[in-house]
Amino acid sequence: MSGLEHLRADFPVLQREIGGKPVHFLDSAASSQKPTSVLEAMDDFYRCCYANVHRGAYALSVESTERYEAARSRVASFINASDPTQVAFARGATSALNLIAHGWGGEHLRPGDRVLLTEMEHHANLVPWQMVAARTGARLDFVPLTDDYRLDLEALEQKLDDDVAVVGVTGMSNVLGTIPPIPRIAEAARTVGALLVVDGAQLVPHQPVDVQTLGADFLVFSAHKMLGPTGIGALWGRPERLEEMEPYEGGGEMIADVQLHTSTWAAIPHRFEAGTPPIAEAVGFAAAVDYLDKVGMDQVAAHDADLTAYALQLLAEIPHVTVYGPADVDARGGVISFTMADVHPHDLATILDQQGVSVRAGHHCAKPLMRRLCVPATARASFYVYNTRTDVDALVEALGVASRIFGVG
Ligand SMILES: Cc1ncc(COP(=O)(O)O)c(C=O)c1O
Repeated sequence: MSGLEHLRADFPVLQREIGGKPVHFLDSAASSQKPTSVLEAMDDFYRCCYANVHRGAYALSVESTERYEAARSRVASFINASDPTQVAFARGATSALNLIAHGWGGEHLRPGDRVLLTEMEHHANLVPWQMVAARTGARLDFVPLTDDYRLDLEALEQKLDDDVAVVGVTGMSNVLGTIPPIPRIAEAARTVGALLVVDGAQLVPHQPVDVQTLGADFLVFSAHKMLGPTGIGALWGRPERLEEMEPYEGGGEMIADVQLHTSTWAAIPHRFEAGTPPIAEAVGFAAAVDYLDKVGMDQVAAHDADLTAYALQLLAEIPHVTVYGPADVDARGGVISFTMADVHPHDLATILDQQGVSVRAGHHCAKPLMRRLCVPATARASFYVYNTRTDVDALVEALGVASRIFGVG
């Protein structure tokens, strides 16, 4: 037990019952639930100070702009960025990765350059690079996984040569839970002058992250996976890398001057935030990181580790359940993919739902990884601060019901 069991009371949706059963929400890797403090921060903002930002000469707009920029500072301090201008708000991790791939890669990749990704990337850190490679003549290459579901670091080091311009890696796999050692990868990337892009969509919500020691050039993450609202995420970049990046979207807010045929860009980070930004969402994002900091990210990580160890131990005792991911809790986070014999994960998830247990089933936007695992799909349980061992017990009990229904075991 980690001592965070009281946090569940902060999440209104988890007080519901569905079909007469409490909600055992085990799908936070897809999107997390929101605490009252985040809901109230957004509601208060709309009621007290809402107006569009950066444009108005009137009090409400000035106040709204101050709240938006304060949110940027808050998110920047959460990852220990040395200056808020290193953080651009984006629609989420996906749009931030598209900005990096198109805005940096589209400008700097040349025919023959290689973009080195891994076999466990979410489509968000794969498809944009495919698009940019097709445009620039760069080639994609992939670091394989070991048989115990870790990143093969020896293979990574062998593949790194002077042709590698970008290394792109997930900070935590959304399927396997694997957490690759980013500082070591950063050091290896640096020796060949490659830029390191870290997809922090799963990492940042669950582990303390300090961009000053991480070693990455770019880090992206989404608010909705870390107790905040949908529609906003963050891109952190080293100042020199942000300078090298072209805007990906044009329009209002991102310009310094516009002529009929040409335009010049606003200062960083505003040049990367075309159009009216997600203002109330930024306020909610700041409230979410306030909540996480109050709990303490070390505590969040320890709570995940406790639930993961407990779940792995219980799942290992269920016949015909296969877990995909490192057995060692130190090498992984609280995302557990599994299958039960040849039961389709969608059927399994449906039975679990009838028992009040919400898990995801499918390819988890990681189709190449599914092929590597030789499965069409998996079921996936994922934990966050509001989960307790009772949720894990409910999962295990529901799997028992499923195995009886499907005649497994
Ligand atoms: C590892 C990883 N990267 C990127 C994303 C994309 O995040 P978003 O849909 O918030 O843009 C996800 C979402 O599941 C993810 O798990």
